[in-house]
Amino acid sequence: MHTSPIISLENISKTYVNGTIALQDLNLEITPATLVSLVGPSGCGKSTVLRLIAGLGNMKTGAIAWNHTHNQHRLAYVFQEAALLPWATVLDNVWLPLKLAKLPKRQALVAASEAIAQVGLTGFEHCYPRELSGGMKMRVSIARVVTQPDILLMDEPFGALDEITRSKLNTDILNLQHQMQLTIIFVTHSVYEAVYLPSSHNGSASWSSDRRYCH
Ligand SMILES: Nc1ncnc2c1ncn2[C@@H]1O[C@H](COP(=O)(O)OP(=O)(O)O)[C@@H](O)[C@H]1O
Ligand SMILES: [Mg+2]
Repeated sequence: MHTSPIISLENISKTYVNGTIALQDLNLEITPATLVSLVGPSGCGKSTVLRLIAGLGNMKTGAIAWNHTHNQHRLAYVFQEAALLPWATVLDNVWLPLKLAKLPKRQALVAASEAIAQVGLTGFEHCYPRELSGGMKMRVSIARVVTQPDILLMDEPFGALDEITRSKLNTDILNLQHQMQLTIIFVTHSVYEAVYLPSSHNGSASWSSDRRYCH
């Protein structure tokens, strides 16, 4: 059965004000509940694609069409830097966006705890970011966005992590994508990651552990 795309990029061209041509005649269809990898060398326009999908910046030509039969078009961006609030615990970092989205307190706390469990960090709710490893910080950053999931834009999210942690997170993001039926657009310059991610879901839904203790 053919599933209609959730986002269609049609003949997109983008030129920055300094004259740099970042994209030319790009066509791309994103199927809902799939993980799509964008792979290419530095400077080829990957981040520009994500920014345009997020509505940041104008295109020179072309259009981005959204399929309106999907009624929840909440986008979340995950960057290479986990960008957590340093003065807030893991729980508060995950809970705060829900509070800002005006979710009732109890519901927000339950959703935050569930998201923390989903990324394998139960038991670390009261740790501060400085007490966590790079991989764990990235997990918190993912927990923060999967509380309001639909479309995840991930811009080289694991690029600053060591290879072993990165490989675990790759497996885990696949499981999460499958479990929550997320649509993920995953930017990477790693050919291995780009091939591994869309093709190798193994059907299990648990996060691998890189737990360390913060107290
Ligand atoms: N704000 C900007 N102003 C001018 N040029 C930019 C800007 N952002 C990106 N570029 C240029 O556009 C091209 C694509 O950039 P980018 O989308 O960041 O590539 P990638 O994410 O694949 O490394 C590069 O040549 C980059 O230098
Ligand atoms: Mg980039």
